[in-house]
Amino acid sequence: MTAAIDWEPLVQLALATRENAHAPYSSYPVGASLLTASGKTYGGCNVENASFGGTICAERTAIVSMVAAGDRDPVALVVVTRGTTPASPCGICRQVLAEFAIELPVLLVGVDGSAQVRELTTLGELLPRAFRGAALTTPSGG
Ligand code: THU
Repeated sequence: MTAAIDWEPLVQLALATRENAHAPYSSYPVGASLLTASGKTYGGCNVENASFGGTICAERTAIVSMVAAGDRDPVALVVVTRGTTPASPCGICRQVLAEFAIELPVLLVGVDGSAQVRELTTLGELLPRAFRGAALTTPSGG
């Protein structure tokens, strides 16, 4: 049996990291946090760019931080967005997450002042039949 996830510190990390978002174009800051099997956590925020295609979402920032730290194996993800209808990760982020996890629990949190709306889902639900590629699905990688 896998241990229950302690979501509160992850929500706090996502909220805090959201404060660092660079979102001058959308004015829509997003925060994310990841917990890995090692027990380490990683925050992420969206980092926008004047060349809009250069923007990176909060979820991918968190994944990139995890990989850069030499860590793998995410076991929980939190995403914090504005408003009482929690936003769910974009398609690119879903695919990037699927590179490192299949059945990742995902807590979506919408914030409106002191009010929070939380919705628990999984990456498998958000991205059924994800493309995993030859390297991830065949022993030879061929
Ligand atoms: N954004 C995220 O950070 N995560 C998502 O899953 C969807 C969108 C960001 C990208 C952009 O900076 C802003 O939200 C508006 O689209």
